[in-house]
Amino acid sequence: MFVNMRRFRKYNPRLIVMFFATLLIMLNWESIDNRVLGHVKSYTYRYLYNSFQFINTSIRVSPEEAIRYSNHKYILNHENKCGAKDILLLLFVKSSSQNFERRHAIRATWGNVVYVENTFGVTIKVLFALGVHPEQNNRKLLHQQLILENKKYKDLIQQDFIDTFHNLTLKLLLQLSWKESYCRHAHFFMSTDDDVFIHIPNLIRYLQEIARNNNKNLWIGRVHRGSPPVRDKTSKYYVSQDMYSWLSYPDYTPGSGYVLSKDAATKIYQASCTLNASLHIDDVFLGICAKIMDISPKDNVFFSGEGKAHYHCCIYNQMITSHGHVSDIYELWGRVTDPLACQISSGLFSRLYCTLVKVRLLCVPFGSYSYPCKAAFE
Ligand SMILES: *[C@@H]1O[C@H](CO)[C@@H](O)[C@H](O)[C@H]1NC(C)=O
Ligand SMILES: *[C@@H]1O[C@H](CO)[C@@H](O)[C@H](O)[C@H]1NC(C)=O
Ligand SMILES: *[C@@H]1O[C@H](CO)[C@@H](O)[C@H](O)[C@H]1NC(C)=O
Repeated sequence: MFVNMRRFRKYNPRLIVMFFATLLIMLNWESIDNRVLGHVKSYTYRYLYNSFQFINTSIRVSPEEAIRYSNHKYILNHENKCGAKDILLLLFVKSSSQNFERRHAIRATWGNVVYVENTFGVTIKVLFALGVHPEQNNRKLLHQQLILENKKYKDLIQQDFIDTFHNLTLKLLLQLSWKESYCRHAHFFMSTDDDVFIHIPNLIRYLQEIARNNNKNLWIGRVHRGSPPVRDKTSKYYVSQDMYSWLSYPDYTPGSGYVLSKDAATKIYQASCTLNASLHIDDVFLGICAKIMDISPKDNVFFSGEGKAHYHCCIYNQMITSHGHVSDIYELWGRVTDPLACQISSGLFSRLYCTLVKVRLLCVPFGSYSYPCKAAFE
């Protein structure tokens, strides 16, 4: 008896820890199953099986069915925005009717097309993609305000679908079909959100370099490979088995920022005209369209997925997009365009210094979701 007690005491802490650990796992089994096993299954699917034949057999619909997703009427439009000019980039910003201030800030900062023309000698077009406000009561007043805004800036493209998260794919179709109809000749197409900061000088230099190499079939962004559909009903990314019953999505780039070359944009548009567009996750839907056309995304580590980049010259010298900026956008733009703000020489010591800074900022576990650790070595 005495001996048993001692033994019990000796093992007590370990037993207790194991007991609680088991309890925790059992209580959270469903979410562990969803997250961990979901990823194991989706990576297996993506890397070992990697066949997306089902797109052809299950997601294709007749052209008459497909057009029902994209033939929404324009409320505001600018058919002649692009004209016959040589245009480097058509940049669509997904916005919502009530986000007047965000649009204003973008026009005054990174979306300032006059600045781009004067500084780089290239033409870009920045347009805002909108649907109509979900609440009927607000629509009339917002409509009047949008008409005034549009009169002044001539950059709103609005269709008559209801502007909700679950209609984002309709907004994607608006952008692709608008480019196809009115701005086919623009060399590049980009889509982003109205809370993203784009380092336009870096982006323009990057696109000019690509254009010189005459690359075709390009789709660039932060690439997600082997992502599983979210089956947690409480998530806004929830997708039912009916809508998408396979284990993994085709590779895709998040909707917060990606670039397509003009031929890729055309092909993806054509593919979208043959598919069931009821899958509301717009960036995944684009991935499905690209898959049919055999276009694979190219990873660029300086497109951020969801995260906000640290403000540091060593990062801002290379970044393309950073997500989650609203109030700080003027300040960032001021720094980005100030020739004295970020002077880092290209010497060996400066490069070493920047590598160290980036390792410290980007290579800590759970520390940063802006750019991956490998960005430190680019
Ligand atoms: C789907 O079909 C098209 C031709 O109809 C073919 O070019 C393409 O490779 C197929 N895609 C997949 C993923 O099977
Ligand atoms: C999407 O827009 C269509 C067309 O306006 C509307 O009928 C539908 O209810 C909207 N769907 C969602 C989920 O908001
Ligand atoms: C498109 O997909 C949705 C969801 O899976 C389905 O309910 C609908 O019937 C499909 N439409 C067509 C025309 O196949």
